[in-house]
Amino acid sequence: MSKAVKVGIVGCGTVGTGVVQILLEKKEEISRKAGVNIEVSKVAARNWNKRRFFEVPQDLRTTDWKEVVENSDIVVELIGGVSVAKEVVEEALKRGKPVVTANKHLLAEFGKEISTLARENNTTILFEGAVGGGIPLIKVLKETLVSNGVEEIQGILNGTTNYILTKMEEENLPFEEALKEAQQKGYAEADPTFDIEGIDAAHKIAVLASLAFGGFVDFSKVFVEGITKVNVLDLKLGNELGYKLKLLAIAKKTPSGEVEVRVHPTFIPLSNPLSNVNGVFNGVLFKSDYLGKLKLQGAGAGAYPTATAVVQDIIQLAKQLAECGKTFDITPLGWNDGEIPVAEDFYSRYYLRLGVEDKPGVLYKIAKILAEKGISVAGVLQQEWVLKYLKNPSEVVPLIILTHKAYESKIKSAVDEIEKLPFVEEKPVLIRVEEEKY
Ligand SMILES: NC(=O)c1ccc[n+]([C@@H]2O[C@H](COP(=O)([O-])OP(=O)(O)OC[C@H]3O[C@@H](n4cnc5c(N)ncnc54)[C@H](OP(=O)(O)O)[C@@H]3O)[C@@H](O)[C@H]2O)c1
Repeated sequence: MSKAVKVGIVGCGTVGTGVVQILLEKKEEISRKAGVNIEVSKVAARNWNKRRFFEVPQDLRTTDWKEVVENSDIVVELIGGVSVAKEVVEEALKRGKPVVTANKHLLAEFGKEISTLARENNTTILFEGAVGGGIPLIKVLKETLVSNGVEEIQGILNGTTNYILTKMEEENLPFEEALKEAQQKGYAEADPTFDIEGIDAAHKIAVLASLAFGGFVDFSKVFVEGITKVNVLDLKLGNELGYKLKLLAIAKKTPSGEVEVRVHPTFIPLSNPLSNVNGVFNGVLFKSDYLGKLKLQGAGAGAYPTATAVVQDIIQLAKQLAECGKTFDITPLGWNDGEIPVAEDFYSRYYLRLGVEDKPGVLYKIAKILAEKGISVAGVLQQEWVLKYLKNPSEVVPLIILTHKAYESKIKSAVDEIEKLPFVEEKPVLIRVEEEKY
């Protein structure tokens, strides 16, 4: 067997510690199965006095990431964020050293620069752990579906928000309480902004869209709405209508060749296989021209699932280096340098909940505004069963309108007008509905 490939790890937190543990404990097994010897050269963290779930040998420890880059054939970035992490990745690539990362934030915001740098230096960056933790989503896009045209991706890509929505639905908990519970269980960070505002899922769908549609996604064009305003009442009313509410990340090709890239709370029918992806799990549906529909589900985060994905990338690169002296995955993100035409507007069905005074003429005025915007109504509900979900019987009884497909810009402008009507007593709730049967 050829000489050992030296792997340096920058960042020894949740994922980094898992990676070091697997590489050290499974050294023999990896060598036997993959035919390559991997040696951990150096591991960087800020403070080695901190307790970690795996004891990193003293001689491997450093606080200087430059020492890691210097002493490695492959550099693994597991710091997170876009400041030092970007420096680490750029330094390694400039030196022609391949990089493995799980940093979706960095890829979503600087993917184009980083991919270009990798290509210019005849090296590459792999990132299986960045999206879906231990679920091999990047592999599916880069390998399984390489001969197919991807039409659509739908994903539950953030375990924290999926856990919160599941708790809210199963235990009738308001958002704030479900969030607190997620934090107590370690499923949500002390600062949960990136998760609950949908930004983490948006980073991930931007990465998947780049690979699926072959170009870079301008992250500022991704539509993002989080779950902070989700109300238990809508979860329950949705259930009565045969829907589950999920924070869905969507990348979808439109007939005009643009791509909708969006993240928002979404009602999906029970026939959609993602409807039973609950708790901290992630799930993704790929729709492509020849394979058809493919669903993957599993642990979307956590030390060992993510570390498994990172180690898979390390082994792939180590094999290439050991056998050929170079790496050859030169299309890290997207397969051309162009940008994907991200659609400014999108087309969806809608659930609209209005708190209105119960008097004649109300429905007529609302329907008139919708009709003027070209939005056709699929159903109107204001029924007795709604009452059982109201905490206080004197609350305004909700009027629920389901629409046929309409442009987001049109429904938003209709809702703005409806909100100003004198008999509308509460802020309208608008939830997108992805109705397609799977
Ligand atoms: N956690 C997950 O389940 C998960 C899943 C998928 C992807 N990811 C991604 O994986 C990456 C790492 O996440 P994580 O959860 O493992 O983060 P983490 O637990 O916060 O660990 C970050 C590590 O980076 C070290 N670090 C920070 N700044 C440094 C510097 N300037 N020099 C050297 N070391 C430095 C920290 O050192 P100290 O330990 O001394 O503070 C810590 O060991 C992120 O990009 C994240 O988005 C995480």
